[in-house]
Amino acid sequence: HAAQETAPRAAPALPDAQTVTQVTHWTDRLFSFRVTRPASLRFRSGEFVMIGLMGDPDPVTGRQKPLLRAYSIASPSWDDELEFYSIKVPDGPLTSKLQHIQPGDQVILRPKPVGTLVHDALLPGKRLWLFATGTGFAPFASLLRDPQTYQDYDEVIVTHTCRTVGELTYGAQLIEDVRGDEMLEELIGDNFAAKLRYYPTTTREQSSKMGRITDLMRSGEVYEDLGVPPLAPETDRAMICGNMAFNLELKALLEEYGLREGANSAPREYVVEKAFLD
Ligand code: A2P
Repeated sequence: HAAQETAPRAAPALPDAQTVTQVTHWTDRLFSFRVTRPASLRFRSGEFVMIGLMGDPDPVTGRQKPLLRAYSIASPSWDDELEFYSIKVPDGPLTSKLQHIQPGDQVILRPKPVGTLVHDALLPGKRLWLFATGTGFAPFASLLRDPQTYQDYDEVIVTHTCRTVGELTYGAQLIEDVRGDEMLEELIGDNFAAKLRYYPTTTREQSSKMGRITDLMRSGEVYEDLGVPPLAPETDRAMICGNMAFNLELKALLEEYGLREGANSAPREYVVEKAFLD
């Protein structure tokens, strides 16, 4: 292919391109961004899609390949745009570049949503627990803006464990917005704000509640603080999304409580998904 090698290369057209509309930097490690939504894209709250950018040209062939990662959709299914919440990994192949996007830039978005953190994968229950660490909050940002979350349960408890107070801000802001959401209040009723319980904790910076949620469950502190009984398979449903060690530890803990892992094809008492790191 000698001819090809000497010919000037046209810049490859970006496949499945969407346009960035907004970028917010929450800390030096965390940012969120919004992009245009493909008209045909339908998804269930809690699902993820593959998004990314064109990688660097191959030094030998000059070819560029898309660099894609799984990202939970953080926006609700009724939103005109799509929102994502991401960590910035200094040497991460994708996020080292993605953290510099600006409104007007394009990103690649493969419009095939999938995932297990969906209402369909859980049996009916009384209380829904959403357990997150770090950017694992993202799918819950979608679920918490979905009326079904409050229609299906008497009580929704969101726990979020982060290293620092600043890392809680995206979630705290979202909770505040949801509590003041008139559309949700109209659909669910006045008791709606009381149904939503928020339990943020930090592990490496002083805050009003310190410690890993797993430890606070083992000690019973979280149940005392919220005035609810420990999880039980008859009443409680749970979704887990965080770093790998957290997912595994909490999964084992929920199994001890008698909850079983569900899937789209076999709904049960809890579902788990890993946060998508570089
Ligand atoms: P810690 O600071 O004690 O490691 P990260 O930013 O590294 O993904 O971590 C997010 C949060 O998840 C941190 O507060 C971290 O606590 C916590 N965490 C890490 N591993 C576990 C685990 N196995 N169980 C509960 N929380 C965890």
